[in-house]
Amino acid sequence: MCAHGVILSNCSADAIALAAEKLRAGGLVAFPTETVYGLGADAANPEAVARIYQVKGRPHDHPVIVHLSDINQLDQWACEIPEYAIALARSFWPGPMTLILPRRDNVGDFITGGQESVGLRIPNNPIALELIKRAGIGVAAPSANRFGAISPTTALAVHEEIGAYLDSERDAILDGGPSDVGVESTIIECLDPAPKILRPGAITKAMIEEVTELSVDEGVSQVRASGTLEQHYAPKAKVVLLDSENPDVNRAAGAGFLALEKFPTPDGAIRLASPTSDDDYARVLYDALRAGDRRNLPAIYVVPPSGDGVAVAIRDRLKRASA
Ligand code: TXA
Ligand code: MG
Repeated sequence: MCAHGVILSNCSADAIALAAEKLRAGGLVAFPTETVYGLGADAANPEAVARIYQVKGRPHDHPVIVHLSDINQLDQWACEIPEYAIALARSFWPGPMTLILPRRDNVGDFITGGQESVGLRIPNNPIALELIKRAGIGVAAPSANRFGAISPTTALAVHEEIGAYLDSERDAILDGGPSDVGVESTIIECLDPAPKILRPGAITKAMIEEVTELSVDEGVSQVRASGTLEQHYAPKAKVVLLDSENPDVNRAAGAGFLALEKFPTPDGAIRLASPTSDDDYARVLYDALRAGDRRNLPAIYVVPPSGDGVAVAIRDRLKRASA
């Protein structure tokens, strides 16, 4: 069952039950979600959450998202939930969306980074949902990478990122195959009369506006979110963005190249992926950047997608990766 020490690759009911026990006992469990893999801990246990910060090498005042399995658990974590947030939750959960809501008093500062709001999400992945349900707790989980690095979309990538920091007795990595979406959830702040997007993702502005019948507030948020740091999601290779419409692809000679399949590989470039659509681009994005690092490429030239669906999130991550 254990391919790499802590990896449980056979996600049988038994493996999930064992992982749920580890969570309840204060251990860390990395688990698949439809966006990226998360590094989970009991959201009511300050020591367990402190270990997440250690393993990630993340600053201590950053908030973490609490993952739930059922919309009925919302009231245990949040209060004064606006109508439009309920509408979003009903439409898009389980799914690639995190809502930032006013927190209940029982929610620890070690979860919210001392802020008055809490981030909540119900992921759309059967292993994640079963794990959270079995554990019977809220599961605090950031992406399962070292701070500032690329989020993992496979169990192997989790192992490469943080395997060395996990304890093979107390912790585990659940292998659920590659993530379906490939970029992190859309984070929507629901603290004001209109929703605000803190991080774009697969739930787009148009989808939010349709469900809430409100215009998304384009103002600057006061809340802190590490995913909004100017530099984040970065591989070791230098990421250079080319023009989406008219890319000067010849610059990629001797380096990595990532673009939709309609752009042929330039001479002397090393193709990292040929996504066929924007959704496919999101799915392969992080693995392609990782592949560049595995090959020790000094630079990766990227033609970002130009669409307005999940392409907005891809451009956001690529911009930070290239900062
Ligand atoms: O798709 C995802 O959201 C993945 C999977 C595992 O669920 N999780 C994820 O977590 O990307 P993380 O910690 O890597 O990014 C979550 C972002 C961080 O930038 C954090 O600062 C922000 O959400 N965040 C969490 N709680 C918050 C809060 N109460 N207020 C403002 N930002 C918050
Ligand atoms: Mg992250």
